[in-house]
Amino acid sequence: MTNQFFVAVVGAGPAGLFGARELANQGARVALFNRDMKPGGLAEYGIYPAKHSMKDGLRKQFRQIMDLADIEYYGNVSVGSQGDLTLDELRALGFDAILVTAGAQGTKSLGLPGEELEGVYHAKDVVYFYNHLPPYSQKSFRFGKRCAIIGAGNVMVDIARHLIDVQKADEVTAIVRRGPAEVNFTKDEMKHLISYLDLDEFEREMTRVGPALQAIHQDPEIGRHKILDALAKADSRTENTKFRFDFLASPVGMHGENGRMTKLEVEDNILIERDGKTSAKGTGNRRMIDMDTVIFAIGDRVDESFGLPTEWNEFIKAREPRFPVDGLSYESTVEGVFVGGWSRKASDGLVGYARKDGINASKAVWQYLQTKQPGGANLDAVLEKLKGLDKPIVMKDDIKKLEAVEIVEAQKRGLEEFKFDNNEEMLRAIGLMQTA
Ligand SMILES: Cc1cc2nc3c(=O)[nH]c(=O)nc-3n(C[C@H](O)[C@H](O)[C@H](O)COP(=O)(O)OP(=O)(O)OC[C@H]3O[C@@H](n4cnc5c(N)ncnc54)[C@H](O)[C@@H]3O)c2cc1C
Ligand SMILES: NC(=O)c1ccc[n+]([C@@H]2O[C@H](COP(=O)([O-])OP(=O)(O)OC[C@H]3O[C@@H](n4cnc5c(N)ncnc54)[C@H](OP(=O)(O)O)[C@@H]3O)[C@@H](O)[C@H]2O)c1
Repeated sequence: MTNQFFVAVVGAGPAGLFGARELANQGARVALFNRDMKPGGLAEYGIYPAKHSMKDGLRKQFRQIMDLADIEYYGNVSVGSQGDLTLDELRALGFDAILVTAGAQGTKSLGLPGEELEGVYHAKDVVYFYNHLPPYSQKSFRFGKRCAIIGAGNVMVDIARHLIDVQKADEVTAIVRRGPAEVNFTKDEMKHLISYLDLDEFEREMTRVGPALQAIHQDPEIGRHKILDALAKADSRTENTKFRFDFLASPVGMHGENGRMTKLEVEDNILIERDGKTSAKGTGNRRMIDMDTVIFAIGDRVDESFGLPTEWNEFIKAREPRFPVDGLSYESTVEGVFVGGWSRKASDGLVGYARKDGINASKAVWQYLQTKQPGGANLDAVLEKLKGLDKPIVMKDDIKKLEAVEIVEAQKRGLEEFKFDNNEEMLRAIGLMQTA
């Protein structure tokens, strides 16, 4: 029996990777289980593909973490009640603690009529698709000429960019339930999109929603600035697409013909002030908008089938944590199981925040470990269990091989970056699957 603690970390996105490094630095051994073959989570499969230098910078940091001797990596292994290993099976391996950093993999569905129609999608699926994450990379999407995106966060901006740059949509409309002052994207992201904004139409829309802003004594200049300040550093236009905002509108249903979406129905809202917060309230007035595609970019929720109790969009945390860090609870309601990053708070913040949250979650885990003796988990038992799964497990050296092959492919094709977009090709590149 060793005197080193052995911790399972589930999910190798920024929170899991930086959390694993923190645990290794403290002296623990870590087994990092990851659903995707490659590590990185949304840093690899979420961040907009054109952000090459940001993605490369993060990959370099992730490689350094993966090189740490006390971290084992098991890619292509999902944990959960519908995964390769259940949480109970993981616990039965005797890990001293489990840190769940599996992101927010559930979908926030609004349960609207017409959600089953072709042309109705959720942001995560679309984002995984254009970032080449299997199996989403192989799904078919119908991006038509007229596309709507529900929401006004940075994910909306990313998706609008994809619809314009890659899918060559004619019109992209952001459907925003509140007003221009409540949009949630940053100027730094909006600068990539703003040159497509039809400025005449924007002013007409500002006039249309003027009375609703006036009713709560809101200066329209606040919203105008929040959006138009991005013009100063706008990327230049390369396509003829028109981008527009439809403010104070909530989706209430999708209509279609022959299984395909043709119209989006929205309800108009007014703004109300409640508890110091500006909220949207439906007026009952409904409108139909001709639309081929709608994408819900309204944030995600954690995976309810994971095996931890959930409430709203999140795993339930201990309300009176034994090991709080910065006043926050990282403890699930199951003894020895902790949560960090987007698994602690779904769809919250940037990579830097997930990194800090993963580290803090590990600090909570480490405090917990100080109350115990190292238990019986050992590497051989973990490997034996993984062997029994009868599927290829992608380990550290395999990731190195895969990255090397992808670099050569990118050079051959004259691309800045190349990614295999299906598991079979990745496994062949690594040598874990025979060439047909
Ligand atoms: C579209 C989009 C664009 C973004 N762009 C930026 C940006 O430009 N800049 C920025 O700073 N931030 C950006 N962010 C935010 C950033 O990506 C997140 O803050 C961060 O990735 C969250 O980290 P995480 O580790 O908590 O979760 P994730 O990054 O989601 O990682 C979760 C990991 O868990 C694994 N996993 C999932 N389920 C399981 C399971 N059941 N078993 C085992 N493993 C599992 C996944 O394979 C994945 O590796 C963006 C987010 C989105 C959605
Ligand atoms: N480039 C980047 O840096 C980048 C890129 C992508 C994502 N991210 C980060 O990732 C995180 C998640 O981004 P996000 O865009 O998904 O989330 P977000 O910023 O919270 O935006 C979600 C949007 O959806 C709207 N919404 C939520 N529920 C709704 C409903 N039921 N009906 C209609 N609209 C609804 C919200 O409106 P209300 O405001 O009215 O709730 C908001 O406009 C953020 O921290 C973001 O900054 C960063």
